[in-house]
Amino acid sequence: MIKKYKRGYTQGVFDMFHVGHLNLINNAKAQCDYLVVGVNADDLVKKYKSKQPVIDEDKRRYIVENIKAVDETIIAQTLDKKAQLDLVGFDAIFIGDDWKGSARWSETEVELKKYGVDVVYLPRTEGISSTNLRVVKDERISG
Ligand code: CTP
Repeated sequence: MIKKYKRGYTQGVFDMFHVGHLNLINNAKAQCDYLVVGVNADDLVKKYKSKQPVIDEDKRRYIVENIKAVDETIIAQTLDKKAQLDLVGFDAIFIGDDWKGSARWSETEVELKKYGVDVVYLPRTEGISSTNLRVVKDERISG
C-alpha cells in the first residue's frame, strides 16, 4: 500500500503507556512508511509541566520502541519542532487533535510548511490520559 508520507515523526511523554498512545502511534504509522517517535526527556517534562513522569525516560523509551508500529525512537530534549526536524528529518509530524488550534501548533504549522512538512492531527482517544491514570492510582491508594 502506498502511504502518503515517507518519514513521520511524533513526540510526547508516553508516561504510563496507555491505549490512547497506542492508537495515536498506530494511526500515525498508517500514514507513513517509517515512524520515528520522540519520547520527552524527564528534564524537559519537569521544565514545561512542572511535574515528574511516573516512569523514567529510559523505560518510557524502551516501551515505545517495542511497539510494533514504531521504527525508531529518540529521547527528545526540546519542544522546538524545527530543531527536531533538523535532527530527525521528516515529511509529516503527527499530533493528537486536542492540540488543533492552539497557538503553539498553529505557529508550528506555518513554520514547518516552509520546509514542506505537514502537521497532521489525529483523533484523540476519549476518556484516558496519563494525568487521569495518575489520579486513579492516587485515589486507589487513599481509598
Ligand atoms: N494522545 C491521544 N489520546 C489520548 C492521550 C494522548 O491521542 N487519550 C496523544 C496526544 O495527543 C499526543 C500523544 O498521545 O499526541 C502523547 O501524549 P502524552 O502527552 O504523552 O499523553 P497524555 O496521556 O495526554 O498525557 P498527559 O495526561 O500527561 O497530558
